[in-house]
Amino acid sequence: MKPKEILVFGASGQIGRHLIRKLTKNNYKVIAVTRNIHQKGYILKTQANPGYLEIVELTYFNLEKIKSLLDECSICINLIGILFEKRKNLFKNIHTDFPDLLSKLSAEKNIEKLIHLSSLGIEKSLDSNYAISKLEGENKIRNNFKRAVVLKPSIVYSVDDNFTTNFMTLLNRLPFMPLYYDGKTKFAPLHVTDLAQIIFDVVEEKTNEHTIECIGPEIISFKNIILKLLKTIDKKRLLIPLPLKVGKMIARLFEIMPNPLITVDQINLLKYDNIPSGKYKTNFDIGLKANKIFDEEIEKYSYNWRTGGQFSRDKFQKN
Ligand SMILES: NC(=O)c1ccc[n+]([C@@H]2O[C@H](COP(=O)([O-])OP(=O)(O)OC[C@H]3O[C@@H](n4cnc5c(N)ncnc54)[C@H](OP(=O)(O)O)[C@@H]3O)[C@@H](O)[C@H]2O)c1
Repeated sequence: MKPKEILVFGASGQIGRHLIRKLTKNNYKVIAVTRNIHQKGYILKTQANPGYLEIVELTYFNLEKIKSLLDECSICINLIGILFEKRKNLFKNIHTDFPDLLSKLSAEKNIEKLIHLSSLGIEKSLDSNYAISKLEGENKIRNNFKRAVVLKPSIVYSVDDNFTTNFMTLLNRLPFMPLYYDGKTKFAPLHVTDLAQIIFDVVEEKTNEHTIECIGPEIISFKNIILKLLKTIDKKRLLIPLPLKVGKMIARLFEIMPNPLITVDQINLLKYDNIPSGKYKTNFDIGLKANKIFDEEIEKYSYNWRTGGQFSRDKFQKN
């Protein structure tokens, strides 16, 4: 049987890398699209066996090129996303206009399926431009292409993330940790391999749902996430609830940096719980499990942030 071709946009990111490994190991051929083959080629080409991965450079949304790539594939997966805006890299372009274009072209080319990654907890976040743009993107996709599947994950974590790893770095460097909204915002953290399995199950048609909220097995508040990270890196830090005005002033300063740690838009988003809305089914509702436990998984890589590294724990010191 000829392996199916899967076209992946945003393949070099955290989710993309894990997904490419899963797909190619299971005999799918992947075409991975990146903006910069010189920077991302090294990361991408090690994710699959020779013959299973083609890397394509697309520096801008070239309509003819996208059409010809869609001609080659049966399934397209869109993982492109940004956390903050910089110059012309705007939420609207990335989260609304591109999904709009891709879903129109997917319909025109009559491909088998378009899988699009949106986000959980964005329905009520009307003061976050990130959330608004993601929600509009979802709606465009649903209107344009009937065979589209929208996946809405809570926070996705792994050693390759920008979440637990950034916070462990911060907790190492700062004597205290500021908490927005008293750290009460709730998340349903999902390990990246569990999400890759869910996407794989959608590819394999294990479900007919068109929108799935993707969550891990636990609901954890932001404060408890920070406490768990502190425990696993063997550090004690003061957790200080930050008045919103002060928090936003600091975020405005961060926004000047090329890669801001936090933005005002993200603070606005943090106000809303990142847990199932009740509007759509979750992966658990349709029998797609995500069993990785947050404490157990972060323990596997947190030694990188622990003083003394992997051999600093008691069990090594006693031997
Ligand atoms: N990670 C999470 O916790 C989480 C939670 C909910 C939803 N999601 C969504 O899931 C998707 C994948 O997330 P991820 O964590 O894997 O993201 P990521 O690691 O930040 O990777 C995103 C990819 O998007 C591409 N990209 C970024 N800006 C672009 C632009 N201006 N034009 C074209 N491509 C661009 C990059 O590819 P190149 O640099 O190779 O071009 C990058 O590999 C995103 O849509 C994200 O919003 C993620």
